[in-house]
Amino acid sequence: MGNVIVTGSNRGIGKAVLEKFAVNGWNIWAHGRARNEEFEDYISGIASENHIWIRPVYFELGDDRQIKSGMKRIFDDKEEIHVLVNNAGMGYYDTFQRTPVRKARELFDINFFAPYEIIQLTLRKMVLQKKGAVINMSSIASLDVNEGDCVYGASKAALNMLTRDLAAEVGRFGIRVNAVAPGPVRTDLLENIHLKRIAPHVMEEKSAMGRMGRAEEIANVVYFLATEESSYINGEVIRIDGGRK
Ligand SMILES: NC(=O)c1ccc[n+]([C@@H]2O[C@H](COP(=O)([O-])OP(=O)(O)OC[C@H]3O[C@@H](n4cnc5c(N)ncnc54)[C@H](OP(=O)(O)O)[C@@H]3O)[C@@H](O)[C@H]2O)c1
Repeated sequence: MGNVIVTGSNRGIGKAVLEKFAVNGWNIWAHGRARNEEFEDYISGIASENHIWIRPVYFELGDDRQIKSGMKRIFDDKEEIHVLVNNAGMGYYDTFQRTPVRKARELFDINFFAPYEIIQLTLRKMVLQKKGAVINMSSIASLDVNEGDCVYGASKAALNMLTRDLAAEVGRFGIRVNAVAPGPVRTDLLENIHLKRIAPHVMEEKSAMGRMGRAEEIANVVYFLATEESSYINGEVIRIDGGRK
């Protein structure tokens, strides 16, 4: 048990990650983009059920100053930070030729530079603690070739290399850095972006298990990577896609 930061924890995969840590007795800084009363009611309910604290932290990942002040609020709590889950991210699906460079920059800002900065700030504490685990939310789009995933895939592939190289740099401080690369999971991101162009059965047929993943199945692997059960796994990008056909 310990203290964990989960970004993008108000819905989708991030919410399943938050619930997994909560039922296992972890204290949580629950990040969301903007203040949300319904979310605050929800987290105060699961915090009291599980005898933990869950503190909401809000910041926009595309705004450097907001990231810094949001992270400062976490540091002001003067608690140890044992685990950081960089889950928040933005989806995108279109061909390279239809994607202006402005859009590509936005994707890299949210999916790469924001976690980059959050990790850099968090590591200051983790290095002093000589202990910590960072888990980044990648995607199979970073590993497989798919028309339409060029920019999204590239932003997540950058995150993969950050994961692997950083693991080599900070392993000696007792800090592990890993990533998970889920296949399709039916969240708002998938509904609003991919499923507008690709039929669900096409995605399901690509998995050896003939179905999409569930958010809880991703959260289980994230949780495993956060705990001592995975104490010798470092610098890995782990696919969670039911096997690819
Ligand atoms: N679903 C999939 O099939 C799939 C597959 C592979 C990887 N992933 C990755 O898994 C992660 C979670 O995805 P999801 O499917 O759960 O998506 P989702 O339901 O759309 O949730 C995304 C989360 O990230 C937050 N977020 C996005 N942009 C943000 C910004 N600019 N500033 C602050 N917060 C921001 C959202 O906050 P708001 O609620 O305020 O928007 C939300 O909490 C992402 O990194 C995604 O790339 C998803």
